[in-house]
Amino acid sequence: MTEPPQGDGPEKHFAPDVIATKRDHQRLSDEQIDWVVDAYTRDVVAPEQMSALAMAILLNGMDREEIARWTHAMIASGERMDFSGLSWPTADKHSTGGVGDKITLPLAPLVAACGVAVPQLSGRGLGHTGGTLDKLESIPGWNASLSNEAMMAQLDDVGAVICAAGSGLAPADKKLYALRDVTGTVEAIPLIASSIMSKKIAEGTGALVLDVKVGSGAFMKREDQARELAETMVELGTDAGVTTVALITAMSTPLGLTAGNAVEVAESVEVLAGGGPADVVELTLALAREMLTAAGKTDIDPAEALADGRAMDVWRRMIAAQGGDPDAPLPEARESHVVTAPSGGTLTHLDALGVGVAAWRLGAGRSRPGESVQAGAGVVLHAKPGDLVQDGAPLMTLHTDEPARFDRAMEALDGAFTVEPDARAESSPASVVIERIG
Ligand code: URA
Repeated sequence: MTEPPQGDGPEKHFAPDVIATKRDHQRLSDEQIDWVVDAYTRDVVAPEQMSALAMAILLNGMDREEIARWTHAMIASGERMDFSGLSWPTADKHSTGGVGDKITLPLAPLVAACGVAVPQLSGRGLGHTGGTLDKLESIPGWNASLSNEAMMAQLDDVGAVICAAGSGLAPADKKLYALRDVTGTVEAIPLIASSIMSKKIAEGTGALVLDVKVGSGAFMKREDQARELAETMVELGTDAGVTTVALITAMSTPLGLTAGNAVEVAESVEVLAGGGPADVVELTLALAREMLTAAGKTDIDPAEALADGRAMDVWRRMIAAQGGDPDAPLPEARESHVVTAPSGGTLTHLDALGVGVAAWRLGAGRSRPGESVQAGAGVVLHAKPGDLVQDGAPLMTLHTDEPARFDRAMEALDGAFTVEPDARAESSPASVVIERIG
């Protein structure tokens, strides 16, 4: 690989030629990739040109070398962080996004309680998928923005930080992601892989565990797509010297019993207190074991740190270090509406996408960039697939500050659950983890 171009000078390429190369199913050269990513970051390549190229990439793909070069160019668009001065080994986790996916909240303090520091740069909600920062901001006083120095000091002292990525990290991705979001080009495997891995490699973590979601509530709807995405990202991380593994995990029904902001924080605290829904506990422990192993700690059982309260202690210190009050009551929405079972039987289907869109429309997510979210909005489930329910029993409760939002949320739930009179309850629900790659 040659190094990306340095400094200013006459433009080396012509955007329409780069677009036509990919449109005509050709490989992009290293020089074309370096130039187009850099020139887009500098506003030399126009958004309409980049969106045409993103669509050509979505339709015609990129090979592994092109993806690696594209990732490299996105990393080179900004700063790189360095945690090598810390006295702890580091490991991070990244999820490709799902409904009710609050795992980062119990996971970061749990892994820190086992002796591995977690520098978790997180994002806000995107479409129907919730954002870790939006969830944590429902805790009174909690602050998502830390300077690099404050982040490093907290990592050294507490061992866990969850905060917003600074604007200097992979700025090309920030611009390109916002463009993809509004041009129907989010679901391209090369673009998702390079987007995630550019941020994670630039962040400088020593080890990385990827949670690649598959199912209706995920960007990847099919297992073969999820496997290709996972393999691509593991290869990118490994080539960059980051110990990287991926778990492919189920996202056809929501994780746990909550989707929203404060309701997900409350459920995470239950997990840290030794309780919580079985699927959330299973995935938290599976990811913790992978992170500890990837960071070289093979002899520690994270289940003990969850059971004996050490993870809870780190959570409380982590929240307090960022101005939050771990004892403050969480905000509650002003209005609620209970959705009941239309008949008695087994709940055989509860669609992650339907629940995610309902939570979004209730005010847990944004309909326009920069909008504020409602801390108390969301969905609390009273039954999961496989559960027996009685006719008229509560299936879920919808929460919002604005009752006018209930109708649109209910539309999202139309066809999103099925109660079958003759079906039998599953005795043991299937594991959330489908496959391990790496
Ligand atoms: N998350 C990211 O950071 N980027 C993507 O492209 C998709 C999910």
